[in-house]
Amino acid sequence: KAPPVIFSGIQPTGIPHLGNYLGALKQWVKLQNDASPDTTLLYSLVDLHALTTQEDPDQLRQWRRDMLAALIAVGLNPDRSIIFYQSKVPAHTELMWILSTNASMGYLSRMTQWKSKLDLPDDSSPFDAAVKMKLKLGLFSYPVLQAADILVHRATHVPVGSDQSQHLEFARDCANGFNHNYGPVLVAPDTLLSPAKRVMSLTRPHLKMSKSHTDPKSRIMITDSREEIERKVKSALTDSVSGISYDPTGRPGVSNLLEILFHLQDDHDQASPQELAKIYEALSMRAFKEQVSGCIEHHLRGIRDAFASLVRGSDRKRLDEAMMLGTNKANQSAQQTMDSVRNAIGL
Ligand code: ADP
Ligand code: NA
Repeated sequence: KAPPVIFSGIQPTGIPHLGNYLGALKQWVKLQNDASPDTTLLYSLVDLHALTTQEDPDQLRQWRRDMLAALIAVGLNPDRSIIFYQSKVPAHTELMWILSTNASMGYLSRMTQWKSKLDLPDDSSPFDAAVKMKLKLGLFSYPVLQAADILVHRATHVPVGSDQSQHLEFARDCANGFNHNYGPVLVAPDTLLSPAKRVMSLTRPHLKMSKSHTDPKSRIMITDSREEIERKVKSALTDSVSGISYDPTGRPGVSNLLEILFHLQDDHDQASPQELAKIYEALSMRAFKEQVSGCIEHHLRGIRDAFASLVRGSDRKRLDEAMMLGTNKANQSAQQTMDSVRNAIGL
């Protein structure tokens, strides 16, 4: 049996917020640190995907570098995990083309992502007159590139949030379809669902924390200073019920803060959000929020310092070295697959 290959990707959207960290990156680090020695881990900054929504070259350059620094700052080790820019590995786009020759428009039409990115209803058709002018081919075929990202490295396990399971199913179909036509070359990956629930916005706790919300107080960035963390937690929308309790429907704001505390714990001896509520039961909202910001600060301090020295300080060279190392290793990994793929299809 082939050793495990873990692959995941993230768009280079600059500095991650606490939702990105608790929902994705923290799990990536844990997978790395718990992995058996024969496990390969690949984490891609998917800059080609970012082109479907982003058109400012300077900003993309900056965000890509910030995200790379963030991945290393949160604890990914470039000597252990292969961290790389998608665009530096041309095999991703080559395999995408090959997969797209067998990808059905009907299947892609049913995917939800292009609809939500364009704010279209779920039953939209790409052939509607009004839709087809707005819908670009790259956004529509995004899942095919994502399938190629995964398959080109023979990933066996792909950690994703629940909103991405549809795309993984599509990747599995691409692999099985290819293998059906040409023989067993590609590996159909398994999903590793992220254990984390959604971290909610601090100011509008019925919405998920997201970089697309205009209010910067709605989210904590992993590089926020102690003062910024305190200020944002203090202004988080809660309620005037006395005492602390866990009740996501009745008290979404407080419950979100309890969830954040819950996810910040290292997983041994984890207290549930309900148990945490018991611990803080008698505190005033103000005292509870001080506990929450203290805990966030405690967790993010090291990350913030590491990020600063990677981006501005003495570790700047490490970023370039990590990028080159990742590029080389990822190209090698992809090349192996492409040799078999080209051979199988007659190229
Ligand atoms: P955003 O919503 O800010 O645009 P992305 O869609 O770029 O974030 O998500 C990047 C990663 O972070 C994905 O794996 C996603 O599942 C995770 N993620 C984003 N927001 C949250 C959140 N509020 N809670 C938990 N995970 C999140
Ligand atoms: Na998003």
